[in-house]
Amino acid sequence: MNSKHIETQAIRTQIDRTQFLEHSSPLYLTSSYVFEDAEDMRASFADEKERNIYSRYSNPNTSEFVEKVCLMEGAERGYAFASGMSAVFSTFAALLSSEDHIVSCRSIFGSTQTLFNNILPKWNISTSYFKIDELDNIESLIQPNTKVIYAESPTNPAVDILDLKRLGDLAKKHNILFIVDNCFATPYLQQPIKFGADLVIHSATKLMDGQGRVLGGVTVGTVNLIQKIYLFSRNTGPALSPFNAWVLSKSLETLPVRIDRHCDSALKVAEFLESHDNVNFVKYPFLKSHPQYDLAKQQMKLGGSIVAFEVKGGIEAGRKFLNSIKLLSLSANLGDTRSIVTHPASTTHAKLTEDVRLETGITGGLIRVSIGLEHPEDIINDLKQALEN
Ligand SMILES: Cc1ncc(COP(=O)(O)O)c(C=O)c1O
Repeated sequence: MNSKHIETQAIRTQIDRTQFLEHSSPLYLTSSYVFEDAEDMRASFADEKERNIYSRYSNPNTSEFVEKVCLMEGAERGYAFASGMSAVFSTFAALLSSEDHIVSCRSIFGSTQTLFNNILPKWNISTSYFKIDELDNIESLIQPNTKVIYAESPTNPAVDILDLKRLGDLAKKHNILFIVDNCFATPYLQQPIKFGADLVIHSATKLMDGQGRVLGGVTVGTVNLIQKIYLFSRNTGPALSPFNAWVLSKSLETLPVRIDRHCDSALKVAEFLESHDNVNFVKYPFLKSHPQYDLAKQQMKLGGSIVAFEVKGGIEAGRKFLNSIKLLSLSANLGDTRSIVTHPASTTHAKLTEDVRLETGITGGLIRVSIGLEHPEDIINDLKQALEN
């Protein structure tokens, strides 16, 4: 597959056809593979041949999915995981050692924060955080044992934008890895490797599936780094199932058209919310009022599918707003065909202290909407009636 266009890469990257000459890739539900003879088996286990041995190591469906993501992200190699969090955990577990240190943006997914704060410290791996408006201070956080700068952009749930090129340059200057969770943007909107990322991680559960059906994750990057992640994973077992890989690979075929529509509707919803009297502020990367609008325009093709806004009246008004929603779903997922509303202060981020919540932009009245593929008029009407109820 040698097209430079992501739409074609997403569709025309396909494993070899079988003797049945099927048009669409078949599903390979097999846990293991057979060998011609003892020598074939020996050479395969000695890594002298590139072939499938056991589906914890590789599987044709998983390979197809990984190859697509690599092409779309501009990466050399990748490995697919059972979930986004298994991708995040396995990447750090494979690459870091005891006494290593991470410098991370404070605004990252909740379970990744738990990994950094509660799980990695069991192996004496520590993390220092910077706030999204503190990029000038990052160098002061870098220690001799710092191995990684970690970031998500746009951030969850406050939809802030981080300067990926600046972070990439900083990582290079200090000879440390730059790892980006690109889940909110997808490779269609933003390719962090172009800005200096060494590794890119995705929760494929979100927009890559796009229909709220399966869990999955993937890490892509350079051959050397992925080889370490692969060896760790082939022995510890976080592999993506062939069925989920098949679903995800099929879903990638429609990713660009889905994302175009998500973004088009999200901008319309953001503009509507900005004009509403019961809304204090709206955060959407491609709204001119977004504090990092110019940066978002440089880094991203379109503004993404997530809109955050603050209802007037604080935490109680946020809960009341959610109770008034009729069409949209109250659910923990995002990046689905179905639009989803969440109230982070009373749910996903309720366990954080108010100070930490405010540091990451989560005010009492903040609502996050994952804009789905329903007609934008219906999404807007539901939000309108809930705001006016
Ligand atoms: C930015 C981000 N990274 C990682 C994850 C974890 O992914 P998963 O739920 O597939 O484990 C999520 C899940 O919401 C996420 O939003």
